Amino acid sequence: MKTRKIKEGVYWLGAVDWDRRLFDSLIPLPDGTSYNSYLIKGSEKTALLDTVDPTMEDVLMFQLEGVETLDYIVAHHAEQDHSGTIPKLLAKYPDAKLITSPKGKGMIIDHLHIPESKIMAVEDGAVLSLGNKNLEFIHTPWVHWPETMSSYLQEDNILFSCDFFGSHLATTDLYVTDEARVYEAAKRYFAEIMMPFRPIIKKNVAKVMSHKIEVIAPSHGPMYDKPNFIINAYQDWIADEPKNVVVIPYISMHGSTKKMVEYLVSALAEKRVTVYQFDLAVTDIGKLAIALVDAATIVIGTPTVHVGPHPNVVYAAYLANALRPKLKFASIIGSYGWSTKVVDQIAGMIPNLKVEILDPVLCKGFPAETDFQALDKLAVNIANKHEQHHLKN
Ligand code: FEO
Repeated sequence: MKTRKIKEGVYWLGAVDWDRRLFDSLIPLPDGTSYNSYLIKGSEKTALLDTVDPTMEDVLMFQLEGVETLDYIVAHHAEQDHSGTIPKLLAKYPDAKLITSPKGKGMIIDHLHIPESKIMAVEDGAVLSLGNKNLEFIHTPWVHWPETMSSYLQEDNILFSCDFFGSHLATTDLYVTDEARVYEAAKRYFAEIMMPFRPIIKKNVAKVMSHKIEVIAPSHGPMYDKPNFIINAYQDWIADEPKNVVVIPYISMHGSTKKMVEYLVSALAEKRVTVYQFDLAVTDIGKLAIALVDAATIVIGTPTVHVGPHPNVVYAAYLANALRPKLKFASIIGSYGWSTKVVDQIAGMIPNLKVEILDPVLCKGFPAETDFQALDKLAVNIANKHEQHHLKN
């Protein structure tokens, strides 16, 4: 796509990656993504904010063909989907200064081998004058690396937030048009990379909100010309209290665990608990991450494989532990043929989750009446715990 004007002297540049389906060799991208870069032409100086993934560097270089001089390149974040084209830009604009946070400086040197002399580290609150436009740097660490920062264009009230508030969404829309679609994409993004840092994100949200913001311009997905939409969503996601939600990731080999999962889902639904059931053999792991943002309880369903849990369940438990959702309760249900250690093994895999373990239910072979009675008891236990905490759906 060509360069697009946002305001006088402020332009969107970047690349829309319609067909990318995996990020970090880990995160599913059902809707592609974009790498947004922004050009600010002040009356005296010109700055480019972030670059694009090196796989799409030609798109950015084409957009910059008519730009004779670049005085500054701002790297809000050292991850390569935004910083990866910086070496090529510095070759084209050898006099440009690269601006980073103090932590970003070392990380850019480590990742891109850029000479230290090219880099200017800026403190929190520093203001860069471009003549008639002033860019204020706001340190916003851990959204989602330790060096991340945002910047604020004072005259136009635009917050350039990089990954913060971003969404993996390929679109031709400059601004959000379909809020429901962007909500899901932004929540997926939050769940997969931001969620482990909820306490510090809370501080960062408060910090940027002390500025008058008319537009939030992230580095992925469309811009927000109604910033409260995404700020309110973030405030909901980072709130301390979870919701009246149970997430059940499971695997079934011969139907026993699946039967138990279906029974428990039905029992919980009757008690007005919202439940999300994920068959790990086929599920989009991003959907599971989204559900974990709000969940109060996780129930892991697994058959027994060589005494332990199924490997797909191990993956899901590891992921849930790494993402550190605000879960309060956990349980394990499943089946075994002759012996099992799945409860101890799974419980040992989730030390980051500060959860109370509720009585597990394991059946030998196919579930019998006593197993269903135990599942009824687990459903009552979960519903009561949620009610005691006054959790809302
Ligand atoms: Fe979009 Fe953390 O990079």
